[in-house]
Amino acid sequence: MSLAYLNGEFLPLAAARVPVLDRGFLFGDGVYEVIPAYGGHPFRLDHHLERLAGSLAGIRMRPPLTAAEWQAIFRRLLQDHAGEDRSIYLQVTRGVGERRDHGYDDRLVPTVFAMTSPIHPPDPALGKTGVRAITRHDIRWTRCDIKAITLLANLLLRQEALDAGAAEAILLRDGLATEGAASNLFVVREGVLLTPPKGPRLLPGITRDLVLELAVANDLPCREEDITESALRQADEIWITSSTREILPVTELDGVIVGDGRPGPLYHRLHGLYQDYKRRWVAAQPAAS
Ligand code: PDD
Repeated sequence: MSLAYLNGEFLPLAAARVPVLDRGFLFGDGVYEVIPAYGGHPFRLDHHLERLAGSLAGIRMRPPLTAAEWQAIFRRLLQDHAGEDRSIYLQVTRGVGERRDHGYDDRLVPTVFAMTSPIHPPDPALGKTGVRAITRHDIRWTRCDIKAITLLANLLLRQEALDAGAAEAILLRDGLATEGAASNLFVVREGVLLTPPKGPRLLPGITRDLVLELAVANDLPCREEDITESALRQADEIWITSSTREILPVTELDGVIVGDGRPGPLYHRLHGLYQDYKRRWVAAQPAAS
């Protein structure tokens, strides 16, 4: 039985209840984070909490908890799964109103929820074969930098990919490839690693930032630069990144083979660097937390 945190209480996940007048339920009025925890330790926690603060500010909410309070909650939730790799899901909504009303009262008490679930690293076989992706017009709003729980467009886009036998939908807006339905985008062209710059078109991914950090630290040529649709289609390598899928090579886009149809040399290099970084980070964590 999995434990959850809801508004100051720890309780079995199956017993957690939110009133129907919660603005998260009625409007999707809230934000969230997904944080991988390796060996019981939340990975890149400061980065995730900083992004959470940005998302909250983006929807005009104050942080409901301090970093230390979040940390204590995660420690308790992870405690029953000693040493396991799990992902932490947290959600903050604007709270429960007196009636359904688009306008809100600033004094509402936010609803704060967290749970964990098993995390399964991507099947190593995918590192050898890669995955399929499709492209779709980005039908989301214009503040994709906010990690809002309002994910209907992302769900529909991801499902279109799954229905087409693909792992992800890569999104196109104004002639640019921006990110995936639930991942960031990298391409390799002429030996240079490219990813779109941060801005309202995409989520500032924590995995994205780590990939860039590792590339810079290892003198691999990389740039934050807009990726046009034609640059995407001519790429030698395409990858998608996220906290739960790490780095996944895309070897078929809209039914067309990418590069030579196999994950490329830069993917193998970065994947190795990413795994080494994770291993060293886990080994450096205190034994019991
Ligand atoms: N999603 N872009 C979008 C639209 C995302 O939903 C995600 C992650 C990312 C990658 O961000 P990060 O590297 O910080 O995980 C980019 C999570 C995993 C989710 O919604 O479940």
